[in-house]
Amino acid sequence: MPVIAAVGGQWGDEGKGKVIDQLAEAAQLVVRFSGGDNAGHTVINPHGEFKLHLIPAGIFYPHVVCVIGNGVVVNPAVFLKEKAQLEKRGLGTGNLFISDRANLVMPYHRLQDNLEEKARGGKALGTTHRGIGPAFADKAARLGIRAGELMDKDAFRERLGSVLEYKNRLLTKVYEAEPLSFDEVFEQYMGYAELLTPHIKETTAMLEMAAREDKVILLEGAQGTLLDPDFGTYPFCSSSSPLAANGCLGSGIGPTDVDCVLGVYKAYCTRVGAGPMPTELHDETGDFIRNRAGEFGTTTGRPRRIGWFDAVAARFTRRVNGLTGTAITRLDILDVMPRLNVCVAYRLDGKIIDYFPADAAALERCQPVYEELEGWLTDTSAVRDYEKLPLKARKYLERMEELMLCPVNLVCAGPAREQTITKTPVW
Ligand code: IMP
Repeated sequence: MPVIAAVGGQWGDEGKGKVIDQLAEAAQLVVRFSGGDNAGHTVINPHGEFKLHLIPAGIFYPHVVCVIGNGVVVNPAVFLKEKAQLEKRGLGTGNLFISDRANLVMPYHRLQDNLEEKARGGKALGTTHRGIGPAFADKAARLGIRAGELMDKDAFRERLGSVLEYKNRLLTKVYEAEPLSFDEVFEQYMGYAELLTPHIKETTAMLEMAAREDKVILLEGAQGTLLDPDFGTYPFCSSSSPLAANGCLGSGIGPTDVDCVLGVYKAYCTRVGAGPMPTELHDETGDFIRNRAGEFGTTTGRPRRIGWFDAVAARFTRRVNGLTGTAITRLDILDVMPRLNVCVAYRLDGKIIDYFPADAAALERCQPVYEELEGWLTDTSAVRDYEKLPLKARKYLERMEELMLCPVNLVCAGPAREQTITKTPVW
């Protein structure tokens, strides 16, 4: 039985939470492998509506073991709040683990994120202000503090002491901000340590055992490929890799164990934060889709930027993830549109190109070349069989397949778990 990575194919918010919630029924383990609480996975299921930032979307099934992998940066306060909210609504968290190798988000990370964004002024990246960039930067700079280190009070004291001394110099001398109190941070994190202890674990052995026993393991991505620091719209990107390859690095599962890579795409495009978005709609069509779909950020509440489906970008994100299939979400949002545009190429400085440029400034100059398709003008939200979708909706999906060079496995036409159509099984 397979290991399946589910990753975002656009700029995040594609509906990965819903897809994982749906697939997790047949899984034994769900592992979040990247990002931090900058992510916001909305899940609507028989338990109600949930907005998860850190806890994997497999948490709604008592038989599923959920792991926050080493590739995630964990803010203990956010984790504990989310856990308490789930428990209050009757959901168990006994099967929820955090890799002892996961780096922690510390109070200075959030401060730094805010101060850095402020210093960028008009060139701000539009981060989620959750401290995620500084936390990943510290991991690379070997200044990070990992979840496992909370278990040893003396070692933690020493480590925090040396890191905080450096951070306070940065805060006061570069940003002219107030320093943080060592005692306060130490006490706060020792308080977290007590509450986190039952969850912190060496998780790679458990995952290897599960893979050997042919259990179904879902690797849950966060953000989207176009926010990847290598393949996304750098520097307008996040700071950990949302790609399938990081599903291995961020969980400790080797690439030879991964059987399927499912790319999750909206039937149109959205983006939050700054950076190029070639198909962005600045007109009333964009406003109409935003309002109809409720496209406001789960983490920050910001209005999302809206655009037509960008097949040039989708083909590129299919390639760099090695997708074996796709899930297309929010098809029902397009039910009322008489005509639809799909971007099939870009016009860059007078030339037609069919690739996704690496340079954000070049991408900013790209004008979309559209192919127009007819809308189906039929409610699809109650459809459960692919063949029962209106012909024009199937034509739209099949044109996406042709342009992306990748099959569609799942189609979502509504937020609820049952509003999912299987075109071809994921595995
Ligand atoms: P950061 O990850 O908070 O540093 O933000 C960097 C960029 O990624 C900003 O444009 C954010 O809006 C964007 N971003 C981060 N997480 C998400 C997400 O889960 N969905 C959509 N955009 C995100």
